[in-house]
Amino acid sequence: MVPVLLSLSPFHLGLWASVLILVLVFLKFISLFLRRQMLAKAMDNFPGPPTHWLYGHAHEIQKTGSLDKVVSWANQFPYAHPLWLGQFLGFLNIYEPDYAKAVYSRGDPKAADVYDFFLQWIGKGLLVLQGPKWFQHRKLLTPGFHYDVLKPYVAVFAESTQAMLDKWEKKAHEDKSFDIFCDVGHMALDTLMKCTFGKGDKGLGQRDSSYYMAVSDLTFLMQQRVETFQYHNDFIYWLTPHGRRFLRACKVAHDHTDQVIKERKEALKDEKEWEKIQNQRHLDFLDILLGARDENGVKLSDADLRAEVDTFMFEGHDTTTSGISWFLYCVALYPEHQTRCREEIREILGDRDSLQWDDLGKMSYLTMCIKETFRLYPPVPQVYRQLSKPVNFVDGRSLPAGSLVSLHIYALHRNSTVWSDPEVFDPMRFSSENSAGRHPYAFMPFSAGPRNCIGQQFAMNEMKVVTALCLLRFEFAVDPSKLPVKLPQLILRSKNGIHLRMKSLSSGSGK
Ligand code: HEM
Ligand SMILES: *[C@@H]1O[C@H](CO)[C@@H](O)[C@H](O)[C@H]1NC(C)=O
Repeated sequence: MVPVLLSLSPFHLGLWASVLILVLVFLKFISLFLRRQMLAKAMDNFPGPPTHWLYGHAHEIQKTGSLDKVVSWANQFPYAHPLWLGQFLGFLNIYEPDYAKAVYSRGDPKAADVYDFFLQWIGKGLLVLQGPKWFQHRKLLTPGFHYDVLKPYVAVFAESTQAMLDKWEKKAHEDKSFDIFCDVGHMALDTLMKCTFGKGDKGLGQRDSSYYMAVSDLTFLMQQRVETFQYHNDFIYWLTPHGRRFLRACKVAHDHTDQVIKERKEALKDEKEWEKIQNQRHLDFLDILLGARDENGVKLSDADLRAEVDTFMFEGHDTTTSGISWFLYCVALYPEHQTRCREEIREILGDRDSLQWDDLGKMSYLTMCIKETFRLYPPVPQVYRQLSKPVNFVDGRSLPAGSLVSLHIYALHRNSTVWSDPEVFDPMRFSSENSAGRHPYAFMPFSAGPRNCIGQQFAMNEMKVVTALCLLRFEFAVDPSKLPVKLPQLILRSKNGIHLRMKSLSSGSGK
């Protein structure tokens, strides 16, 4: 073979190379086409909105207002409809409690077609892992969210919040509305790094701010990639300007997480420090990861370690940022609920001035308002699975193994059979009388089943502490000229930020 190749002229070599590439491209098309046939056939019994011959539904999904477009489709096609992102990637998009239960109670793996886009960034951490390794990591990390670990975090949440509120005190003086999303994001990152990664008291540095900006770019690029079929292929994507921008942002994120790991490893080199940690009854997240050994005494690999740190760094701050920001928008829009929450918190505090662990369980009205915010503005609006075995749905229709399913949490939360007047903000839906008898899969902001959110309790506590302290310091109002526009970017953001007006309530009105 080699002598034959050597005897070929450059022209002939080029020719052979072109033929080889053509054959490979052709084979790739055949395999994509066969997969398309499989996915389409599986969804034969599910009518849906008309598809564009090339883009499928991608155009509709990319437009502003796409979330509500899906709600209108949901009302037209009960239970589920096919959703095509280009011609080769088709999901059954579901938004009905029994359908959600059929799939999400089982713990099928994440749909690699979407979650593999994460790999370059957060690697194979808990969010993306599957099978025995997922189970092993989940078991390993669950004690990091034990309630004894969470208790002292109340003071940390409060500290980070006060720093943000002091900043707002100055801005509030100007008596203009301003976008709160970025400030909330920095606060949530600060608090996460202190709680989960044992960062000291010093505030966020330049590296942290760059990390924050990088994540906002990465979530934008990821969403864009999901919705743009031309970008689905890795090889093509990395050649595009967006793909290269993605890689650059990943680099910023990785530098940040590497630094966090390095600092902790250095602290642990000190023998005494390590002993002190071993004697603690409850270890923090990073201690658990660094101390983890499998049955053969082998440590987590550096790649596994970094994947988990990257995963928690992202999942742990961007989601709560969305939740807190939309909550403040909701109470700004509905002053009567705002007042009621504030009165409840004042009553719980009495003459104390700091929140304690036991207070969190007493904030019932605030909790209902947080849940109602999650219903209307779910921080994670959509999640995807690939079926590992067939599923039969309540209405007799079914899907074979290998099918892709998208759970549209946003549309699920607006089902008018379950929620009367779904667009109305009404926290009383979550009172104990009104919740009794509701389908357990009708409300799933943290997803449900074995692959639900591991940080759920952490997130609820943070939401309560942060929003309670915000309400004690300020009165919030919307700016009618700058109302937010919902925009899904893995998490729910607003296209134009979340602009609020604030009036200081502290005595002497601002320091
Ligand atoms: C309001 C805040 C939050 C919301 C609404 C939320 C929502 C969710 C949802 C819907 C999932 C399922 C994702 C999927 O199926 O692809 C999930 C998974 C996950 N969340 Fe959260 N989350 C929040 C806060 C947090 C926090 C604070 C942390 C960590 C400190 C966290 C860590 C994770 C992890 C690691 C997973 C993957 C779990 C697994 O697959 O085993 N989340 N979250
Ligand atoms: C809402 O849920 C009910 C009860 O599960 C179901 O019968 C109905 O079809 C759902 N609506 C939509 C739009 O999926």
